[in-house]
Amino acid sequence: MLRVLEHPLASHIITHLRDRTTKPATFRALASQLTLMLAIDATRDLATEEKTVETPLESTSGRVLIHQPIVVVAILRSGVSMVQPFLDVFPDVSVGYVGLERDHVTAVARSYYCKLPPLEGRRIFVVDPMLATGGSAAQAITVVKQNGGSAPRLVCIIAAPEGVAEIARNHPDVSVHVGVLDRALNARKYILPGLGDFGDRLYGT
Ligand code: URA
Repeated sequence: MLRVLEHPLASHIITHLRDRTTKPATFRALASQLTLMLAIDATRDLATEEKTVETPLESTSGRVLIHQPIVVVAILRSGVSMVQPFLDVFPDVSVGYVGLERDHVTAVARSYYCKLPPLEGRRIFVVDPMLATGGSAAQAITVVKQNGGSAPRLVCIIAAPEGVAEIARNHPDVSVHVGVLDRALNARKYILPGLGDFGDRLYGT
């Protein structure tokens, strides 16, 4: 399943992220704001239970989240920038990291770093800002599943159709939550229109 964030504020933020004149400090702030919107949207079906509280005026019943452990798994390096917005709204989130590199001979991504909290029975969100070919994200999801995680959600700022198709092919149980679905990849596997290299835009490299 693909879910695209449809909100005027999301469109506004994405347009400024794309703009090559947007400076790193602004880029970081905008990326964080968009991730917060994605975090809220991707968790819209968290379970709740009824709770009665006293307002200063009367008693009323509302709903509160049922405690269900959440794990965010960031794909190194750019995925790290998407962790804090999740922590801002869900303070008890555990965080894992997966580092992947492409084998120059086979062109297959392999994991060179993996530090994961317990995953069994937890709601898992794999975060990576740019879903391009989908190779790294698919591999990271495989690592999550090998470590006991099931049906993680993938959260990205921009996705290419090629990346979405790769996830659907390898992990049909995974839903993909994106800020925007772009047109295509270019010959160098950059997303078009995209925003360039996310890590470079983030850190001004
Ligand atoms: N990674 C990026 O940072 N940008 C792209 O366009 C594709 C992958």
